[in-house]
Amino acid sequence: MNNFKNKNIIVAITGGIAAYKSADLIRRLIEAGANVRVVMTQAATEFVTPLTFQALSGHPVFVGKQSDERYSESNPGDTASMKHIDLARWADAIIIAPASANTIAKLAHGRADNLLTTLCLASEAIKCFAPAMNRVMWDDPGTQENCTILRDRHWSQFGPDSGMQACGEVGEGRMLEVKDILYSLGRCFRSGELQGLNLIISAGPTYEAIDPVRFLGNRSSGRMGYAIAEAAREAGANVTLISGPSHLSAPESIDFIAIESAREMQQAVLSNLDNCHIYISAAAVSDYRIEDIATQKIKKTGDQLTLKLTRNEDIISLVANHKTRPYVVGFAAETENVIDNARDKLVRKNLDMIIANDVSTSSTEKPDIGFNSEYNALHVFYAKDGQICGEQSFDLARKSRLAKQLISLIARQFKNNRSENEKDTA
Ligand code: PMT
Repeated sequence: MNNFKNKNIIVAITGGIAAYKSADLIRRLIEAGANVRVVMTQAATEFVTPLTFQALSGHPVFVGKQSDERYSESNPGDTASMKHIDLARWADAIIIAPASANTIAKLAHGRADNLLTTLCLASEAIKCFAPAMNRVMWDDPGTQENCTILRDRHWSQFGPDSGMQACGEVGEGRMLEVKDILYSLGRCFRSGELQGLNLIISAGPTYEAIDPVRFLGNRSSGRMGYAIAEAAREAGANVTLISGPSHLSAPESIDFIAIESAREMQQAVLSNLDNCHIYISAAAVSDYRIEDIATQKIKKTGDQLTLKLTRNEDIISLVANHKTRPYVVGFAAETENVIDNARDKLVRKNLDMIIANDVSTSSTEKPDIGFNSEYNALHVFYAKDGQICGEQSFDLARKSRLAKQLISLIARQFKNNRSENEKDTA
């Protein structure tokens, strides 16, 4: 079965008799672990009621209006509603099934005259459509051209199938069977960009014990690192995730090593480094540890307590200077001079790439990003032979979305580096 665990998927339904099959699509996506929201055109509601999809998805259904920003729901009193931009950002993928000739035409020409088309225009999610229409409409050159336009714009087209149609004719135009839509949708999440490569990813905080019940820690939740681990797995990599304490569950099909302290993380990273192609250090590793960990709970005796700290080794620098050095990607969590500090760390720690994120909370304009948030905004620098040779910004987005974008960038830069190194040694 396809694994859609934690994937945010919008099932968009347009007017067509195949709309009844969307109920099965939604049910199976949910069974496979996806979070599903349903968007319908007004025409679709004439075939199946929004209530059916609301019951299946467990959420209000968004029914588009002929307006740019407005929408209505089958349950207008629901407070968990989202505006179309929120919905566009929320989605990892949008699958339009069934996709009518009319909606395909609108999308091909950039129209935004209902919620569904507006959403598609506003979203950077994976976009797919499963055409469903009468065979003559399907054969029409206009429809064919519109589908070509969408495919050229990186839409994935699933089907159509051929066979008996609802109108009694036989030919091409039937919506693809749900199991085939699910299979194709599952493939969209797997890019193959890191096929067969071995990655070590560190995530989460480290805890430095003070005594048997207390520790020094930080606010890292592990979300960024876990999202990168999942994106790398979907890109075909063999992933080892080394994680500090986190409330997140270990992702499936990944080698998972749980550690607590920086020294445990160091040991886990170094002992897995053989055959590692890429090391991504998203963990917030403690720079210091307690010099002498008390063996018994420290008692409240005086007004002050002094803890003596000793510096931890910088794990990423050890990796970057290791004899079998992988491609090394660091993060820089900064509260000030974000860009300058990140550039400095890239060069000083001898990294191939650094991903800077602003973790200050001083600006009221700054949205909730960085530590312990679902969202982040990033600026990436990459280097060749110790010189910064490129940069790229990633605007505010969910960490799962950013992780996919980062993995694509890392895969490209890793391959560039490898082919340049091969040329140098030829
Ligand atoms: O976990 P989340 O809640 O999702 O938050 C994500 C995050 C903010 C923790 C993440 O995006 C991030 O920025 N991680 C790195 C945080 C950090 O400690 O940055 P730093 O600037 O102190 O360290 C720079 C780099 O050196 C990092 O790659 C770090 O992993 C590494 N390092 C640091 C210290 C040390 N002793 N060993 C290291 O390897």
